[in-house]
Amino acid sequence: MHSGLHPSILIHSSLPDEDAFLLAELRHARPELAASIQTANGTEEVTARLPEAQILWAYDFPVELLAHGTQLRWFQVMGAGVDHLLGRTEIPRGLVITNVKGVFGPSMAEYALAYMFAHAQRIIQVREQQEQRVWEQLEPGLLHGKTAGIVGLGSIGREVAQLCAAVGLRVLGAKRTPGDVEHVERVYTTAELDAMLPECDFLILCVPRTPQTTGLMSRARYQRMKPTSVVINMARGSLTPEADLVEAIEQGWIAGAAIDVFVTEPLPPDSPLWSLPNVYITPHISGVNRPADLIPPFLANLDRYLAGQTLDNVVDLRRGY
Ligand code: OXD
Repeated sequence: MHSGLHPSILIHSSLPDEDAFLLAELRHARPELAASIQTANGTEEVTARLPEAQILWAYDFPVELLAHGTQLRWFQVMGAGVDHLLGRTEIPRGLVITNVKGVFGPSMAEYALAYMFAHAQRIIQVREQQEQRVWEQLEPGLLHGKTAGIVGLGSIGREVAQLCAAVGLRVLGAKRTPGDVEHVERVYTTAELDAMLPECDFLILCVPRTPQTTGLMSRARYQRMKPTSVVINMARGSLTPEADLVEAIEQGWIAGAAIDVFVTEPLPPDSPLWSLPNVYITPHISGVNRPADLIPPFLANLDRYLAGQTLDNVVDLRRGY
């Protein structure tokens, strides 16, 4: 699969400190490869170093520069999403692309549960009362016995399902193809999503962005939801047209939201999303990106690459994930 004994590896985490950390860790873990590992930050370095790399290990890589990767055989994405690569003609033919699975699930599940609890415990209102020194007993809600609908039951959605089930939520889920999933009482296909929505007190979006999921949560779909329901989007901003989400909150089709991902990031200061009531805006932090967590899956795949074996978590760009 690779030419030469020591394939040349290029690291691009998009953060110089993180690059330095990953470089040191990788050199320490695989000293025999030390001389053939480099980092690249910024267009100039990428353009200069990519042509000799066989392996690219990167986050937020400038896709327009991928065409310089004439020796490139394998691209390990340092994340779960590969939507930035879909339909891109700069990707060298035959390039094997892999992503990371099983690393972000726990933090994303905790993110979802945190904002579900925050909504039930009315933390925004409690805090406002505290600031005003007001003692008034607000009635908290309960997650136990409520229904969570999870759209996307891959490794992240399953982790969310497990945590929801552990706190006594009834769990429904939707995925592209039929099939049972642990902790999920009923699995709908994405084509049946409309039937699941009216059941949900919480809707958690965990699907990758593909042409099929873009615009998934449209105006008409928000209208199918309970007016007391809460939507949590930690997948991609383009899953829901932002104007439809704003309308859904303003019209009371749903009661609140926690949004971690946006069509434009950073979210522009003039976005109406910032000031919606009962909406938490977070800066793309649900899948905690701890550089140290990225090393074991990369090393495991590197060993497979060096042994000429099939890599783990190969992405199918025609499918979109
Ligand atoms: C990812 C992300 O896809 O950071 O990993 O959103």
